[in-house]
Amino acid sequence: MTELCFSILAADFAHLADDVAKATEGGGTVVHFDVMDGVFVPNISIGPPVLNSLRKATALPIDCHLMIANPDSYIPAFADNGADWVSVQWEACKHLNRTLELIRSHGMKPGVVINPATPVEFLTEVLDIVDHVLVMTVNPGFGGQAFIPSTLKKVERLAQMRQERGLEFRIQVDGGIDHTTVESVVKAGAELLVAGTSVFGRGQAVEDARNLLELARKAELARKAELATPGR
Ligand code: DX5
Ligand code: ZN
Repeated sequence: MTELCFSILAADFAHLADDVAKATEGGGTVVHFDVMDGVFVPNISIGPPVLNSLRKATALPIDCHLMIANPDSYIPAFADNGADWVSVQWEACKHLNRTLELIRSHGMKPGVVINPATPVEFLTEVLDIVDHVLVMTVNPGFGGQAFIPSTLKKVERLAQMRQERGLEFRIQVDGGIDHTTVESVVKAGAELLVAGTSVFGRGQAVEDARNLLELARKAELARKAELATPGR
């Protein structure tokens, strides 16, 4: 089922709990928490102390997207402060298998993230040990960037690999997801939709989350109908 993972990077940090409540009222079901260290990406965002406060403000799963070098060193801190899902960048991990197992051993759901220039084929050996794969649809580091269309083919290929191998990981997309791009990513096979600017950017998070989800659900129905068409 399609879910909206609203990215709080675009929220008002002085009123974080209020913004989370609004996106939740609009139908969002996962809090996407972007962690940037100024090393792996050229920007700095938020970390465990903010996570700790946020944990007390929402019952939704918190999905931590670690855009950081050396993620292994910080995984215990994310577990201790309330993370439910943790995804790490393929490009930042020397020993990806170990890192994913470390996340699971701390009781969290592991995910792997690939940048737009990283091929999905590089994930072959970990697809059976992750809960979700995040295909970046922009280069990580900033909110509000334009969607990169070539990433759609990667989502399609990943959905195909999942079907061929009978696996169950979910496909997440992140970056530039709005009313103009949501249909194409859902039709390609994404079911976890990260959106920041299109949810919080206009100061109408309830309405904008609701409208985005409605478009996503329509596209999901269209995809299901297409897959069910005989002769495919
Ligand atoms: C980008 C982050 C995203 C970001 C998406 O590096 O990983 O989660 O918040 O922002 P929008 O939806 O504004 O493209
Ligand atoms: Zn993100």
